[in-house]
Amino acid sequence: MSAADSNVIVDRSAHVAAAGQALLRCDELLAGYLPGVNILNGADLYVNDGELIGIIGPNGAGKSTLLKALFGLVEVRSGSITLKGENITGLKAHALVERGVGFVPQTNNVFPSLSVEENLEMGAFQTPKKFKERFEFVCEIFPALLERRKQRAGSLSGGERQMVAMGRALMTEPSVLLLDEPSAGLSPKLQDLVFIQAQQINRAGVTVIMVEQNARRCLQICDRGYVLDQGRNAYTATGKELIKDPKVIELYLGTLARA
Ligand SMILES: Nc1ncnc2c1ncn2[C@@H]1O[C@H](COP(=O)(O)OP(=O)(O)OP(=O)(O)O)[C@@H](O)[C@H]1O
Ligand SMILES: [Mg+2]
Repeated sequence: MSAADSNVIVDRSAHVAAAGQALLRCDELLAGYLPGVNILNGADLYVNDGELIGIIGPNGAGKSTLLKALFGLVEVRSGSITLKGENITGLKAHALVERGVGFVPQTNNVFPSLSVEENLEMGAFQTPKKFKERFEFVCEIFPALLERRKQRAGSLSGGERQMVAMGRALMTEPSVLLLDEPSAGLSPKLQDLVFIQAQQINRAGVTVIMVEQNARRCLQICDRGYVLDQGRNAYTATGKELIKDPKVIELYLGTLARA
């Protein structure tokens, strides 16, 4: 048994009691890639309308798998996903986009050979009439994209590419946006900008679920956080509580705290 195992807190009753009015929730998710091997082992999560929540945890904990399961990209073997009270378990990504879920994957999240503007058009392909309005919204949050609208996405810096990826997802007018490690691979200054932008997106009325390696920074800005370990909830509380919880510091923030 690993150190993390012995500290896992599975308090389903608190989740069930609190998740009633959630915008999006999942309950006891089992999901994986290979037959017979579950990567998610009973993950619970909810997000209320208007919240920004963070998911942290060690490499391989299943954070990306959880987002992919919520977005219909990994088959859910058991458990349920509910959006605005409607059971959406098993729905595919395009159907979820129509219902207001947006997703920015961890990697390969732009079309490198297309321009910034074309990338954003791809985001709006299901609602082309809304392109202008959404483009203006996206450029208010990411003014740099307006300047670079004709530039190929592949020629942009890492930070700008991340803006294109987030911008593309915002073109679909999501009510909830799933962000997988938006600050990964960026310089400290650009990382900071990404966290500010995530907050701006949230303040503009978009509910945000953010997976982050930069756990400390993520917990500083999120309303509530989840620590995922081995595909299930290890801890959950407000960001401010988690960041000063001795167990969370010892197990999940220790190396980052020293970095
Ligand atoms: N397409 C896939 N096929 C098979 N196994 C996979 C696949 N993607 C991920 N896995 C496995 O699932 C487990 C969880 O991976 P996941 O990417 O969800 O973790 P993570 O918490 O996002 O990690 P990281 O912090 O490194 O991004 C890992 O053991 C990984 O090897
Ligand atoms: Mg990941």
